[in-house]
Amino acid sequence: MNVYDSGRMADILKPLGYELVDGPEGADLVILNTCHIREKADEKVYSDLGRIRPFKDDKMIIAVGGCVGQAEGAEIMRRAPYVDIVLGPQTYHRLPEMIARAHRSQDKKNGPGRGVLDVEFPVESKFDHLPEAHSNVGPSAFLAIQEGCDKFCTFCVVPYTRGAEYSRPVQAIYEEAEQLVKQGAKEITLLGQNVNAYHGESNVQEWGLGKLMEHLATIPGLARLRYMTSHPRDMAEELMVAHRDIPQVMPFMHLPVQSGSDLILEAMNRKHTRSHYLGIIEKLRTFRPDIALSSDFIVGFPGETEQDFEDTLNLVREVGFSQAYSFKYSPRIGTPGAVMDNQVPEDVKTERLARLQELLNQQQQAFNEGTIGKTMPVLLDRKGKTDGQYLGKTPYLQSVYVEAHPRLFGQTVDVVIEKAFANSVTGSIVTSPLVGEVAL
Ligand code: 5AD
Ligand code: SF4
Repeated sequence: MNVYDSGRMADILKPLGYELVDGPEGADLVILNTCHIREKADEKVYSDLGRIRPFKDDKMIIAVGGCVGQAEGAEIMRRAPYVDIVLGPQTYHRLPEMIARAHRSQDKKNGPGRGVLDVEFPVESKFDHLPEAHSNVGPSAFLAIQEGCDKFCTFCVVPYTRGAEYSRPVQAIYEEAEQLVKQGAKEITLLGQNVNAYHGESNVQEWGLGKLMEHLATIPGLARLRYMTSHPRDMAEELMVAHRDIPQVMPFMHLPVQSGSDLILEAMNRKHTRSHYLGIIEKLRTFRPDIALSSDFIVGFPGETEQDFEDTLNLVREVGFSQAYSFKYSPRIGTPGAVMDNQVPEDVKTERLARLQELLNQQQQAFNEGTIGKTMPVLLDRKGKTDGQYLGKTPYLQSVYVEAHPRLFGQTVDVVIEKAFANSVTGSIVTSPLVGEVAL
């Protein structure tokens, strides 16, 4: 979501003459788009600010955006008074105005209260104030369709920083998707903190995510649709059916479970049980047997015993994930988890995370090895590590390194998988859309 937001910030500043540059040296404006989800990300803000500060000259404006800005606005201004603007994730459509104000107060020569702070949750939606065109579109693009969260898991800051759940109207999403495709996108990943809770206005009635994707799949040239992140509570059958019936919907789902223990799930206020989660997976596989699954896990949530943790390991064994993200519980100020009295010691968290990651890595490696010898369509969406090498994704979201002619960048080619590694596979192109054309 932050990658999408950063792109949109660049889009809104483009008409003002701003262009993207590689680093802070000589820049007129530096925006740190920050993440508040765990302590580590949060701490980076001040060290990054410290690195940027030496480049600040009279004309440079430094802005801190994103969820740390939202949560710690005034504190940032106090700890780093050279920051000119602090904004939140819901106000970045007002950046041009904030920059003008920052310039005006810079002219007044560093008087008190010169910083611009805008961390409101405005009544207007930023999406209605962003330019139509995106300025940097690759073969694989992000599109935010839903934002915020009303679920209040006891470990999570998102409901406080991103605000209440909101679904964008169908028409606005369709137009943005069409625009992305016109600008070269072949794959779109629909984004939302609770993306499968999507319930957007259409001209008939509210649509869910499955129906929305059915509609988007009619856009000519849009070859692939993905979405993240989903919540087990919002898994409608319509979405499972979409995986069976809409060829553009890729056979991959990221469905965070966080823990395999009912006691911990309850303490986390996840509003689902272990068996509910397993039931979803079972049903999903009846609609799309080959679907690859990914998840998020937290180890060491307050009160987690060795038995609770083993329940998580068992759940992982039972499901079998093609990839996953796992984290040590990080207490966040203002969330109920942070003040629970049965916090798990750091060394126990470290040890559990290592055990969980060993298992998840084995599963990922096994999944990748299982694709050796198979031929799969791969969308080449990035340059690889060396000249002539490209990086693409299989339908199952595996990263594939292949040697390819530069003109195949942005195309979907058939690749036979040859070698498997922990985080990627390699292969060779067997056919491409250009084979047989005179140009080759
Ligand atoms: N500590 C550790 N991990 C967290 N996540 C969210 N909040 C915390 C926290 N306080 C993880 C969850 C979520 C992912 C985006 O980040 O697993 O799904
Ligand atoms: Fe955070 Fe997701 Fe829970 Fe919402 S559902 S509170 S975003 S973990």
